[in-house]
Order: sequence, then C-alpha cells, then structure tokens
Amino acid sequence: MRKLAVFASGSGSNFEAIVKACKKKLINGEVVFVLYDRKNAFVSERAKRLGIKSIYLNPNDFSSKDAYEDEIIYHLTINKIELVCLAGYMRIISMKLILAYLDRIINIHPSLLPAFKGKDAIADAYNYPVKITGVSVHHVVLEVDGGKIIAQKALIIKKDESLESLTKRIHRIEHQLYPLAINKILEEI
Ligand code: GAR
Repeated sequence: MRKLAVFASGSGSNFEAIVKACKKKLINGEVVFVLYDRKNAFVSERAKRLGIKSIYLNPNDFSSKDAYEDEIIYHLTINKIELVCLAGYMRIISMKLILAYLDRIINIHPSLLPAFKGKDAIADAYNYPVKITGVSVHHVVLEVDGGKIIAQKALIIKKDESLESLTKRIHRIEHQLYPLAINKILEEI
C-alpha cells in the first residue's frame, strides 16, 4: 500500500473524498495522516470520524518557515510518506519542502490553470465572467499554482447560475478528479 499524506486548512471535503477512494481501492494507497495548520479547521472533525490520524501544526509556534517545514519533513519521513496531496492547504510551500519531496507534492486547484491562480479562483472565474471553468490537479513548484498539470476537467457555467451552485459543482468534480489523478501519479512514482 502506498503511503499518502494530505495537507488541508479548512473544510476537508477533498481529504474525505481521498480517504473514501482509498477505502474503495480507487487509489492504491492509504492516507496515513492529515496535516492541518488552522486550529478550528473542520478537517480535523472529518479525520476523527474517518479514523485517520491528524496532526495540527501552528506555523506561529515556529521561529521561521524553515523550522515549520523541518517539522513537516520530520512527520513525512518517520511515516515513510510517498506522496503529499495538498487539498485546500492555503499556505505557500517553500524551497525546503519542495526539494525534500521533489515531484511528490501535488495540489488541486478550482480553475482551469493557468487561468485564475490564487485563493479565490471560483469567484474570480465567476466574476470575470468566463463561460467555462473547471478543476486542475498539478505538481507543486515554487511558482504558486504554476507546476506541470496532471489532470483537468472543464465545466460550462450555466446561464444565471449562482456562485453557490457553481462552487458545489466544482467541488463535486474535485472529489472525482483528485482520486483519479492521485492514483495515476502513484503509478508513475
Ligand atoms: C477546494 O476547492 C480546493 O480546490 C481549493 O480549496 C478548496 C478546499 O476545499 N484550493 C485552492 O483554492 C488552492 N489554491 P476542501 O477543504 O473542502 O477540500
């Protein structure tokens, strides 16, 4: 079984989709732990319910970003993690962690990259307004949302669709696309 870690900052619906896909054997792997950086992140409740170990690391408890990432690398190493899946982890990964896990950190982003990088991609695409948006899974590199694309799925924004409806549809696509992309990457590494 390949060993995965998921990093999240918020709700954790993608984390839950990944765990369920592992249980259904859609992913040839297991989520060993979820790491989160915001104390009240709902992802920790999901982890409890799903029986997955969660690790809370508050960046403010560390003297520097390097020290924070050293601690992350420690947890990844002792748990023999092979792939890190960012899932709504709203923190920029720096050189230290990227080099330690070169080509083994991937991210899901709610737009058709390279369009609408950043933290409000769904609303940015909606307000632009574009007619087609979607979801991308990509490798994580120093440039934010700039790594090689692994998988994408497009979606047509309906006439008069609300932002809430679009957000729901994007999330539904994410929950299907991310497990498929993770399994594909695991076959390659
Ligand atoms: C997801 O839509 C994910 O694509 C997005 O955060 C959401 C997290 O939802 N990530 C980004 O915007 C990264 N730039 P979740 O916590 O329910 O998985």
